[in-house]
Amino acid sequence: MNDALISFHDVGKLYRNGTIALAHVDLAIRAGEFLTLLGPSGCGKSTALRLIAGLEKASSGQVERVLPHKPGTIGFVFQEPTLMPWARIHENVLLPLRLQKVPAREARQRVAEVLALVGLEEFGKAYPRELSGGMRMRVSIARALALRPALLLMDEPFAALDEITRFRLNDDLLRLKKELATTIAFVTHSVFESVYLSTRIMVMAARPGRIVEEIVIDPALPRDQDARASVSYMDYCRRASRALAGAAAELPPQAEGSKTP
Ligand SMILES: Nc1ncnc2c1ncn2[C@@H]1O[C@H](COP(=O)(O)OP(=O)(O)OP(=O)(O)O)[C@@H](O)[C@H]1O
Ligand SMILES: [Mg+2]
Repeated sequence: MNDALISFHDVGKLYRNGTIALAHVDLAIRAGEFLTLLGPSGCGKSTALRLIAGLEKASSGQVERVLPHKPGTIGFVFQEPTLMPWARIHENVLLPLRLQKVPAREARQRVAEVLALVGLEEFGKAYPRELSGGMRMRVSIARALALRPALLLMDEPFAALDEITRFRLNDDLLRLKKELATTIAFVTHSVFESVYLSTRIMVMAARPGRIVEEIVIDPALPRDQDARASVSYMDYCRRASRALAGAAAELPPQAEGSKTP
């Protein structure tokens, strides 16, 4: 696949308890794109991200990387901001840089830079508890960006936020992506969010976790608050919703399975 950073070739993931989390997945993440995995709970989205990150191994097939396999190349943002509550914001963002032995002066500079990028330059000295949920998520994004990852993985980062905050962070994320020219692989349940953010959506179905449809979104689709009500935006949303509903309809009635968090 040309300019793919990561490619899955017929990848399967079988957990020890017998759950087939992924089956026959072919997927490529291309440089510069905003790729979203959209699917119902339990369809293997997080598993796919963990395989991309190299946090887990495939049971079958191959995961091919063009990215150097070293810490910091891939940034990961989880659904919960996972900040250290006892440490100030700038220390939270500094930690991965320290672990990577980035020289102190450069590290401080980078912390200031990424906090400014996410609009929190005034909050370096605050503690996480003094920040709103949306601000904490911004810190978490800043922390992931501090290592200047070539690929940013985001697992339902905005799911716990109210809609207004979520919309604002969607816009922030698109701006950051443009400014940093980074590649993003994103996971969400939300059709609307996936269409708003992505250049390409992979719709997934569960049991076994698999890709059922690819939706390529015109990069020229306007991404602003007015665009959320536009005809072309709604057309994409309808298409993604149909793909999701089609995938769900394939399930046997008793298929609602157990889920390990
Ligand atoms: N460590 C594990 N051991 C066993 N089964 C697992 C493990 N992690 C996930 N699973 C199972 O694999 C399937 C896919 O899980 P995964 O977490 O990747 O789904 P998901 O699409 O991210 O779901 P959600 O939207 O709820 O986060 C589920 O059936 C889940 O129960
Ligand atoms: Mg998940």
